[in-house]
Amino acid sequence: MVSLRFLLCFLFVSNVYATIVSHDGRAITIDGHRRVLLSGSIHYPRSTPEMWPDLIKKSKEGGLDAIETYVFWNAHEPTRRQYDFSGKLDLIRFLKTIQDEGLYGVLRIGPYACAEWNYGGFPVWLHNMPGMVFRTTNKAFMDEMQNFTTMIVDMVKKENLFASQGGPIILAQIENEYGNVMGPYGESGKAYIKWCANMAQSLDVGVPWIMCQQNDAPQPMLNTCNGFYCDNFVPNNPNTPKMWTENWTGWFKQWGGKNPHRTTEDVAFSVARFFQRGGTFNNYYMYHGGTNFDRTAGGPYITTSYDYDAPLDEYGNLNQPKYGHLKQLHDVLHSMERTLTYGNISTIDFGNSASATIYKTEEGSSCFFGNGNEKSDATISFQGESYVVPAWSVTILPDCKNEAYNTAKITTQTSMMVKKPNEAEDTPSTLKWSWRPENMDNFLLKGKGESTQTQLFDQKVVTNDQSDYLWYMTTVKFKKRDPFLGKNMSLRVNSTAHVLHAFVNGKHIGSQHAENDKFNYVFEKDVKFKSGRNVIALLSITVGLANYGAFFESKPAGITGPIFITGRNGDETIVKDLSAHKWSYKTGLIGFESQLFRTESMSKWSVESVPFNRTMTWYKTTFKSPLGNDPVVVDLMGLGKGTAWVLQSNMLRYHVPRSFLNAEGDNTLVLFEEMGGNPSLVSFQTTRVGSVCANVYEKNIIELSCDRKPISAIKFASFGNPYGNCGSFVKGTCESSNNTVDILTQECVGKEKCSIDVSSEKFGAPDCSGAARRLAVEAIC
Ligand code: GAL
Repeated sequence: MVSLRFLLCFLFVSNVYATIVSHDGRAITIDGHRRVLLSGSIHYPRSTPEMWPDLIKKSKEGGLDAIETYVFWNAHEPTRRQYDFSGKLDLIRFLKTIQDEGLYGVLRIGPYACAEWNYGGFPVWLHNMPGMVFRTTNKAFMDEMQNFTTMIVDMVKKENLFASQGGPIILAQIENEYGNVMGPYGESGKAYIKWCANMAQSLDVGVPWIMCQQNDAPQPMLNTCNGFYCDNFVPNNPNTPKMWTENWTGWFKQWGGKNPHRTTEDVAFSVARFFQRGGTFNNYYMYHGGTNFDRTAGGPYITTSYDYDAPLDEYGNLNQPKYGHLKQLHDVLHSMERTLTYGNISTIDFGNSASATIYKTEEGSSCFFGNGNEKSDATISFQGESYVVPAWSVTILPDCKNEAYNTAKITTQTSMMVKKPNEAEDTPSTLKWSWRPENMDNFLLKGKGESTQTQLFDQKVVTNDQSDYLWYMTTVKFKKRDPFLGKNMSLRVNSTAHVLHAFVNGKHIGSQHAENDKFNYVFEKDVKFKSGRNVIALLSITVGLANYGAFFESKPAGITGPIFITGRNGDETIVKDLSAHKWSYKTGLIGFESQLFRTESMSKWSVESVPFNRTMTWYKTTFKSPLGNDPVVVDLMGLGKGTAWVLQSNMLRYHVPRSFLNAEGDNTLVLFEEMGGNPSLVSFQTTRVGSVCANVYEKNIIELSCDRKPISAIKFASFGNPYGNCGSFVKGTCESSNNTVDILTQECVGKEKCSIDVSSEKFGAPDCSGAARRLAVEAIC
């Protein structure tokens, strides 16, 4: 063991890479080789260390050369100068996992990330420092940014992880898309970017630095493109290779929003088009999106799931056909690496958005035939041959003769995922719940918090983002004969709280939430005040802090007022401004503070009359870990808004990584429900491939695979002109008389994968009036 270890060290030291930019701006050169680089974003805290090896392995099998990640400052430095690199935050372990798999790394230190991450990755304590303005020539900001960036660089250097040290990291990034928002920062913005460049350069990492979406990136910073399409992008310096740092494979999801979807064909088109037009580095944002655990989702209102419709789904399963269709594209592009990075480029314009691009070296040529017309197919005549290029697609011919790939022709299976009920032994079909109320007496009846001020503050200033919850409480006294006291009284609150629950004298008078993109609203409710002392308690809740836009750090959150009581006495309206009253503040909720979610919590829970639709309520249950290895999902059906913990890990909704669970014995699920819900519908499930389908033309080979499980049956198969989609295929007007289901049953059933040669030799030759024949198949896993 000892000697083996020594040998490995020796190999590493001798293997010192150099990443440089080729002098003609044609490519990134690694260790003397010009590269066509395919990369994918995986953010380490959006999965668990146990998941990393599998995710990275699947990325490599998907044809990637590199993994990209941001670094999340607020997660690593939650309190100033107190750092956390444990568990999901073990950046070095993540980078080493990439290295172990033999992939390269792209490290986007930022430290501004955006990324739908809470506050864009900035710590809230940073905002609360005196005189602080983010992302401009503000001394306090620049000092902190430099401090964090330097620390990360030093950590990475210490482990020899930069390519210049023999490690995997070939590129680093400073700032993030500043060019998109820099207008409002004026001259200071321009000076800031220069400072960022100098600061980064001074850290001497030995690999090039990227500044994405930054047209004025100072040399030697590489400006790169982010977007759905980047084929038209031209870097600001002829020596800079054409690089795409974020090719959005889907999109993020907002609470109440649709599941985002970007078609596989369109992602493939954008990549092929980019390489047709001289691109050399493409990074998928995201390749695996994952889950926003804890309170990491940005916002407001970004969901806990960060699936992104990425090639690897939230749970790490292959999202087919996206994963497979892109893998084929990567293989073809890699096979053309030499011609693409050295070849002379010539183009032919055929009109109507059809074009050919030829890369030619002395050894041979490679071609792209592009059709940017969204509606009509193009017929391209090239060197005596004629090629049909479907609408909005690119055909790749590595030898300029034979079509190896077309972005619109999918020959990869589609997988339909299914969720199955928890099949653990002895698990009853419904969970048994106990409950307890959130203790709010001190706030609702006494209005008593931790500190008082005669001012209404932004929530961030008070909580330092240690919690989503902040109580604002005050007391108002009315004399018996106060002209105010009457029937027509109301409480009016000008609020920027993402969610507001209002109580007067212990009674819940109403709740409201901010509409998306409109964070100022007026909450107004009729209230009966009494003579003597009245307690107003307002619970303000954040649902992810803003992460994007110029000066986003100062977007308000909370109850900044003004707050009025209005009363009407005949024609007269009397207004009482409470804004400068004595306000008592309390950060967080008691149940969180007393850690009700901890298994060993001694608090009393009741199994009697478990309530439904009760606000501010805690629920607890136990369950057995589902058998097998399929990813585990908790379906929080029936609940409104709140937080869930599985064995103390705060995971909110959706994916429960296996590493959170006790494989044997009991696991606890604790829920805190704010709005009122019905926990009896909550269930644990596993997710896996349910069926796989293909619909491919003759002369293709299609592989069916149930992701390491045997194929159990062929549900549908037809060779001819079948139509419809996976799950609803229908036979067409022509069909082979051979028994296609039987042929496929023999070839596939009982196997983990099977490869089918779609040919008339095998399936027969039905007469489809000259139209190309297709095989449609649906196999059950
Ligand atoms: C980009 C940003 C990413 C991410 C993406 C949307 O503008 O750089 O961090 O937020 O948008 O998912």
